[in-house]
This record gives sequence, structure tokens and C-alpha cells, in this order.
Amino acid sequence: MTYEIPVTKTQNPKPRPADESKLGFAKYFTDHMFVMEYDEGKGWHSWRVEPHAPFLIEPASAVLHYAQMMFEGMKAYRKPDGSIQLFRPDMNIARMKNTCERMCMPEVPGDLFMAGLKAVIEADKDWVPSGKNTSLYIRPFMFGDEVSFSVLPAKHYKFMIILSPTGSYYAANDAGLTTARIYVQDTYIRAARGGTGYAKVGGNYGGGMRASQDAIRYNCKDVLWLDAAEHKYVEEIGTSNAFFVIGDEVITAPLDSGTILPGITRNSVIQLLTKWGIKVFERKLSIDEIVAASKDGTLKEIFASGTAAVISPIGWLNIKGEDMQVADGKVGTIAQRLYDKLYGMQTGVVEDDMGWTYPLGF
Ligand code: COI
Repeated sequence: MTYEIPVTKTQNPKPRPADESKLGFAKYFTDHMFVMEYDEGKGWHSWRVEPHAPFLIEPASAVLHYAQMMFEGMKAYRKPDGSIQLFRPDMNIARMKNTCERMCMPEVPGDLFMAGLKAVIEADKDWVPSGKNTSLYIRPFMFGDEVSFSVLPAKHYKFMIILSPTGSYYAANDAGLTTARIYVQDTYIRAARGGTGYAKVGGNYGGGMRASQDAIRYNCKDVLWLDAAEHKYVEEIGTSNAFFVIGDEVITAPLDSGTILPGITRNSVIQLLTKWGIKVFERKLSIDEIVAASKDGTLKEIFASGTAAVISPIGWLNIKGEDMQVADGKVGTIAQRLYDKLYGMQTGVVEDDMGWTYPLGF
């Protein structure tokens, strides 16, 4: 189905950030946003692009009390010829479907999502940055805004897409990367079997903030979560999936427990490593095995993968307040190669031999 998306342009365009090297992550928002509404029995309606602005919400809206919401994270990239492309948007659509199913929220048809996404990016196409390590971060989200205190799925929802010109999530050096220190969280947990760990919902992140405070106390950028049952096996990092290079193998937590976010970058990393002939395993990996590998010199690299994080090498794990350096604490060769390939493909400076890029046609 084709959708006409009406666009109301802002009368007050904001100045765009002048220095693209200081964008940071989601500090600035563009001039427009995509909005649509859902009513039970009527489906999605009233889709439009309008000026990005605060909006009114009834204080008794269900989402403000019971957190029935979901979000996605994706990016648009400026190519050297000035055109703009997305990266694997079909994967975001598929993950959004699974999240909505888990949260008893209405599915967003893929073609309607793409029509809204294209319309809002086109309205703000001048905001897509072209500087080193930059992109336009895209945040689609949905929430139940029915006025109700019943602990039941809402009958009315709002779906929005907002955009932010963005730099690196963690600070980057000239080669695009630097190493971070990560806190191994062995008290609080992120997700248990049967919970919402595999879904992209705010509660997974809100519930993790107490743990992030521990990380900050130990001068760490983020948390490495352990499994809920035994506090033994590595799961994921606060904002991203985690990969461990031990000997000549790359290991990441498997998705079958339902506690790991199925990252699009995670999937891309697994496919690229497989294509390059590097052994990659989705298996349970205990923190004890990582410490043992560090001691016997076989722990070569740890890195995070995510839309915001891209590929973020980890130089140190803080375990129970003690720092454990990962190899020489510097950016590893696999992480750098993955970053160069992924960000290169996304920005059109490296050949896309995987068929993952999605040119927008403007
Ligand atoms: C993303 O990488 O898009 C995310 O949603 C992570 C975010 C929590 C910073």
C-alpha cells in the first residue's frame, strides 16, 4: 500500500549545530517529527509530519503509570555524493513487530513506517551530518496514551519518529575509536527468562539505571550485565551487545534465553566475521572464563556493538572494584576492522557487498 504523508513545515527553523565534531549523542533535535495515532477498531490514522515540538499529554495516560511503550534506534548516513541512506531498516521493522507483540501493542505496518520515516527525513534532510563519525540518529517510539489506570493494554496509542544529528556515543579518536572501561554488574540484573529482555522497551533501560550509577562510581562508561539466574554468564552491555575475542574465536551471548536484545549491529558483526572466515560462536560465556583467558593471555579483545555504540572497544573490565585490562588496553584489530567496514558501508565509502544499505533517493 502507498501512503500520502502530509507535511507541515516549521515557521521557525532552528540553527543547525555548526561544529559537527561536537555533536555528542542526541543533544540536538531536528525541525520536524512524524506522528500518527491508533484507535482500537480504527487502526492507524492521522499520519503526518509536523514541527518538532513539545505536546500535551493527559496525566492519567496509561504509559505514564505502567510504561506500555516501545522504541527503536536506527541511523541515516550522508554519502560522499551528498545523498542519504539507511542501514537494514527491514531489521528494525522486524524487531519492532516482536516488541509490539510482547507489549500487546499494535503492529506498525512496514510500508507505513517506511513512508513516515522517509517523509520526516526528507523534511529534515539538511540536518543529516557529513562529518567524521557522524550520522542522523533516528528514534521511532510508541506509547499507550489511553486515559486509564487499568493494568490492561491501552486502546489508544501514539507513534512518533524524532531525529537527532549525532556523533560517537563514546568518545572517538582519529581512527573513529577509543577504548572504554566497563563495570561488571554482579548485583542487579537486566532481564530474566520470560521477561522483556529481547524487546526494545524503556523499562529495560530505566530498570538498569541503578546499576549504571555503580558503573559511574567506578569511573566506568557502562555496565556489563550478567545472567539473572546465576550472576555468572555475560549477557550484554547497558546500551549494546558484547563480543569477546578469546584465542582465535569470537564469542557473544546466544539469543535463545530471550534475555538479550537482538541487535542489528550484532547480527551484522556475526555475518561479517563469518564471511571473513573468523570463527564466531553464540554461546554462554562465564565471567570466570574471561578472567582465566585474561590471566593466560588468550583474551585478545572485548567490544560492544549497537546502533548508537557502532563498534566500541572495551579496554578494561572493572570486576568487584578491581580493573582488569583487556590485552594491551588498546583498540583491537577485529574491532577496528569491523568499525571500518560497517561505518564505511553505511556512509558509502566502502563497497556494500552485503546488500545492507538502503538509499533513500534524495
Ligand atoms: C541504540 O543503539 O539505538 C539504542 O537504543 C541504545 C540506546 C539505549 C542508547
